[in-house]
Amino acid sequence: MPTKITVVGAGHVGATTAQRIAELGIANEVALIDIIEGMPKGKALDLWEAAPVLGYDTRLAGGTEYGMIDGSDIVIVTAGLPRKPGMSRDDLLKKNTEIVQGVAREIEARCPGAIVLVVSNPLDVMSYVMLKTTGFDRKRVIGMAGVLDTARFRSFIALELDVSVRDVSAFVLGGHGDSMVPLPRYSTVAGIPLPHLLSEERIEALVDRTRKGGGEIVELLGSGSAFYAPSAAVVEMAEAIIRNRNRILPCAAWLQGEYGLSDVFVGVPVKLGVGGIKEIVEIELTGEEKKALHASAAHVKETMSKLDL
Ligand code: APR
Repeated sequence: MPTKITVVGAGHVGATTAQRIAELGIANEVALIDIIEGMPKGKALDLWEAAPVLGYDTRLAGGTEYGMIDGSDIVIVTAGLPRKPGMSRDDLLKKNTEIVQGVAREIEARCPGAIVLVVSNPLDVMSYVMLKTTGFDRKRVIGMAGVLDTARFRSFIALELDVSVRDVSAFVLGGHGDSMVPLPRYSTVAGIPLPHLLSEERIEALVDRTRKGGGEIVELLGSGSAFYAPSAAVVEMAEAIIRNRNRILPCAAWLQGEYGLSDVFVGVPVKLGVGGIKEIVEIELTGEEKKALHASAAHVKETMSKLDL
């Protein structure tokens, strides 16, 4: 059956996501939606004109009409405002809540069977807005944070040890941003746990850089926020679902008792395949790790409590 992916928000993250989907060949059709007249149509056309050179058959269409999202198997939501220098993710809260609510209503009405991957920040809270507004099963509303955070951690470990990123595997739990919880003992290089390879101080420095990874890019860019790594991360999740890979990836999931937490989106390892989240993987945590995870969840809940949904 043909696969259709909609990307809502045709800005930096959205357009790069559409490009990666086409180049990876994971969908027959991509719809790119934005509120700005002309822009999504122009980007989709530009991407389609690259198809003969790159050899993909993915049909891309862009526009401002939500009718374009009908029949989508996956909807990737990147609509919103990006962070500006000095701005926290929570500052974006009010504006992006309205935007995500509007998008959620369209998804519910037009493609009620779709799986929704949320990228808009503040991520964990926007995932909640999406879940609450669509009323979808929690298997089908998934936030993209952990794959990006682990990618950042892996990229820094690879640089530090001068090894291929392919041999580096990392583990990050918790909320996106400053409250993320990287787990060095579950992070490995060719199967060797990180604490065997690096001093505690060096690991802490890499963890710290990972935590502030988004902010580092924001400062360097001067305007806008990261988009190459975020788009790669959400496309990895979409690919796992479409190809039913049963990948174990860290994603923001709505917890119902797992890890002793309920009614909150928190980054945890999940099994991703057809239908979305097949399983939430629970692992043993030390007392300290559990405390950090619960503190991260408390931070998300605190932001959620500012919303009036
Ligand atoms: N429907 C569709 N698109 C919208 C809507 C809406 N209601 N509101 C805003 N947009 C569009 C904007 O017009 C813009 O083109 O969302 C796009 C966002 O693109 P950028 O400003 O380039 O932001 P980007 O860097 O792509 O980040 C998007 O992802 O990582 C997060 O924090 C980031 O929340 C932000 C989101």
